[in-house]
Amino acid sequence: MKFFIDTAEVAEIKALADTGLVDGVTTNPSLIAKSGRNILDVICEICDIIPGPISAEVGATDYETMLAEGRKLAGLRPNVAVKVPLTPDGLKVCKALSDDGTMVNVTLCFSANQAILAAKAGAAFISPFVGRLDDIGQDGMQLISDIVEIYAQYPDFTTDVLVASVRSPMHVTDAARLGAHVVTMPASVLRQMYQHPLTDKGLATFCADWAKTGQSIL
Ligand code: G3P
Repeated sequence: MKFFIDTAEVAEIKALADTGLVDGVTTNPSLIAKSGRNILDVICEICDIIPGPISAEVGATDYETMLAEGRKLAGLRPNVAVKVPLTPDGLKVCKALSDDGTMVNVTLCFSANQAILAAKAGAAFISPFVGRLDDIGQDGMQLISDIVEIYAQYPDFTTDVLVASVRSPMHVTDAARLGAHVVTMPASVLRQMYQHPLTDKGLATFCADWAKTGQSIL
């Protein structure tokens, strides 16, 4: 299972890269806007920190402009995954870029049928948004279960299920249980995954008992 971080904050990515657990990064127009920085600069910097796939999203919605934007983004670094919306034009761009050997992440997926279309268009990643489905009272994880099950029926589908819009560590556990290939999460969720009160309590006891022994391993 791969872990991507869903952020455009370079300092945050640098800090988490040290964990050795980050396999890639996803960004979107909202995250770029929040960073207040130029998308081309940010994507290059992130690509130079994390060698895995770095998703950079197009800004246009028409085929010609998305294709040109996608080619420009893909030309920045070899590990860029161009992110396109799940629309007819977006999937046409996905097919064209994928045929050229560029990784494409199809975003804003909210149904199994949309995920089937993305796989047929050659997407490297499909991004179903679990949190936003939960927000409107639908079961986001059921969608992950459906897509994982459907993709498994077709060995010629090479698209990875990238669980997006993750809000809590439980989303990560559930995605792992279902066999999703990738989870992209805010940095805060990755940090929360380490935490358990019994770990803290147990470590405090071990440290106190170790001090009582007066020993030193080094
Ligand atoms: O990058 C796509 C996705 O992860 C966005 O999440 O929290 O804005 O629904 P969120």
